[in-house]
Amino acid sequence: MKESLEAHGASIGVIERYREHLPVTEATPVVSLSEGSTPLIYSPRLSAMMGRGCRVYLKYEGLNPTGSFKDRGMTVALSKAAESGARLVICASTGNTSAAAAAYAARAGIQCAVFLPSGKIAMGKLAQAFVYGAVVIAIEGNFDQCLKLVREMATEPGISIVNSINPYRLEGQKTAAFEIIDALGDAPHLQVLPVGNAGNTTAYWRGYLEYHRLHRATRLPRMLGFEAAGAAPIYYERVIEHPETAASAIRIGNPASWNMATAAIQESGGAIEIITDEEIFAAQSWLASQEGLFVEPASAASVAGLFKCRSQTACADCPVQKIPDEAIIVCTLTGHGLKDTASVLNDRAKPVPAPADKSAILSILEKTR
Ligand code: F0G
Repeated sequence: MKESLEAHGASIGVIERYREHLPVTEATPVVSLSEGSTPLIYSPRLSAMMGRGCRVYLKYEGLNPTGSFKDRGMTVALSKAAESGARLVICASTGNTSAAAAAYAARAGIQCAVFLPSGKIAMGKLAQAFVYGAVVIAIEGNFDQCLKLVREMATEPGISIVNSINPYRLEGQKTAAFEIIDALGDAPHLQVLPVGNAGNTTAYWRGYLEYHRLHRATRLPRMLGFEAAGAAPIYYERVIEHPETAASAIRIGNPASWNMATAAIQESGGAIEIITDEEIFAAQSWLASQEGLFVEPASAASVAGLFKCRSQTACADCPVQKIPDEAIIVCTLTGHGLKDTASVLNDRAKPVPAPADKSAILSILEKTR
């Protein structure tokens, strides 16, 4: 299949690229939108900021087909759902999982229903669920309540849950770690991620472990995850009943992959830390205005975290303090900024009114210089 697709000029997705590492067989119908193969962008500014000869790379997952890393897991989940003859896929979501589920379900020709916390989803993500043809159910409650409901529906015949409690999702998501090693020739010393349901942290660690076992990498990275301060159950070691953060993608108080992510963090010699909404938005602006990368707020948490840990020299336990000189650091940017334009179109984002006149415009430009 891989050969025939490539022979016809089509890009391949993560299943064809990493088939031998994924739970698929010749009998699995591949449901793909050519996801993965996202760029690993070197950041000279972040590298200089970290000092000590460190090199910082940004894994830009916003360039996946539905604009987030969720596509990597969804290609595997929907392929397996199609293989098992599922008639309906369902998921709870803060917006990105539902967008990916809806798109891959459309591609597979399977019905999709998404359970979203009412009024708490970025508009771009809501638009995606609708346009891909999902049944959109707005639950009066938060993400954790949506997920509880989805779990309860698991007993119904013909229904496949495509949240990350579906093991195929994490299998697909681990391919991001493979790509990073394939690109760098080894694992980084530090992998930085935003944390919500904690599935991605779990999946990256799995990917790094697998490639290490196969001698594709000589080392394993320390895993450093960032929760939003108002939605930080792992950091505070307790369920947060009413999680709050403007980074709606990670507004989660009881993560599904809590235990696995905690194990990954400990095994790797990493940490889960917190970051405030102000720090998240500052990093989002910085990434766009300094690096030309527009990411959604939750995605900026990884870079916000790096800024914070770099300045916290007193925090002896921080994995950033433990990496060697000339370390390689990867920050994953999980989702595209265009999904959540409301987060940046606030009071400070006002266009400058101008007449259709060259000299008036030149004088405005002179003033704003
Ligand atoms: N970044 C973005 C853009 C996300 O959408 C999510 C999770 C995360 C980070 C956190 O990843 O859950 O694996 O720890 N979004 C889920 C969703 C919860 O429903 O789209 P995680």
